[in-house]
Amino acid sequence: MKKMFGFIAILTIILAYAFFSDADTTTQPSENDLPVVGVLQLTSHPALDLIYEGIVDALNEAGYIDGETMILDFQNAQGDQSNLNSMSTRFVSRDADVMVGIATPAAQSLANASSQIPIILGAVTDPETSNLVASNEEPGGNITGVSDETPIQEQFALIQEILPTANNIGILYSSSEDNSIVQGEKAAEIAKEMGFETTTMTVSSTNDVAQIGSALASQVDAIWIPTDNTIASAMNTLVEATDAAGIPIFPAVDTMVEQGGLATVGLNQYELGKLTGEMTAAVLDGKIDPATTPIQYLEQGEIFVNPEKAQELGITLPQQIMEQATIVDQ
Ligand code: TRP
Repeated sequence: MKKMFGFIAILTIILAYAFFSDADTTTQPSENDLPVVGVLQLTSHPALDLIYEGIVDALNEAGYIDGETMILDFQNAQGDQSNLNSMSTRFVSRDADVMVGIATPAAQSLANASSQIPIILGAVTDPETSNLVASNEEPGGNITGVSDETPIQEQFALIQEILPTANNIGILYSSSEDNSIVQGEKAAEIAKEMGFETTTMTVSSTNDVAQIGSALASQVDAIWIPTDNTIASAMNTLVEATDAAGIPIFPAVDTMVEQGGLATVGLNQYELGKLTGEMTAAVLDGKIDPATTPIQYLEQGEIFVNPEKAQELGITLPQQIMEQATIVDQ
């Protein structure tokens, strides 16, 4: 009889434990129940880092907090294609609920890894010509997101205002980035329509930037560069080469003015990230379907100038531009 009591007591303890531990898992969702958000950033340069910050802030504002209401799996490929591939595969094999690609090559790698998992584009200049969507208005598949297309015409108008006698404008970008090819070709057309001559040169990696930058600087009055990740990653090297020739750079983005460019009409990179994060939250909430959600754009460009660089190069920034511009310290 004693043995029987002992047995019942043990059984009760086991059952109670099973009951309470079970109750425990149902009231407190385990990490396995949280949605997984995989964010793949091509590399670190100031613009992409700001975009990532904006994404995280927008997710938090929408109630998605890492470790509490979502698992945020952030991967930075450091500009390496094999990292892009393995990180994309990692997201797919852990069955991410949504994936975010920051910059075109990162987005293209995610797109190659899955045609099922929703993908949000973070600052991909032209998703359509980069073969990510059927069209920017009606993406048609598992991908939608935010474009960082910049006002190229306004950027060339700014060149005209600051350097009224400039005639030949150099256009410099990486031939390995689809986002840059589309911008470079558009810029050449726009510049010609506005009466400029252009000289285009391309780099194939950051290793070419010094040499090609100085070759181009020796032939032109100013250099325009698109939102190109390779050049953004080697901007200091480029600026050294163009400074040596006394030639200013008009980049398509304010972060590259901070890195030693002269002036631009650019978009707020953090706001691009916020919009990307809002779309990511909307996918998690089941509010939007990528197939029918058009690519989103930020309309408002702002003038940014780097007076210190102007002084170094002996360029006078017109008063009327200074009055409207945001001053950037390098
Ligand atoms: N538009 C780039 C792409 O499609 C990414 C990007 C956003 C970028 N902002 C930038 C690149 C600023 C260079 C500088 O890949």
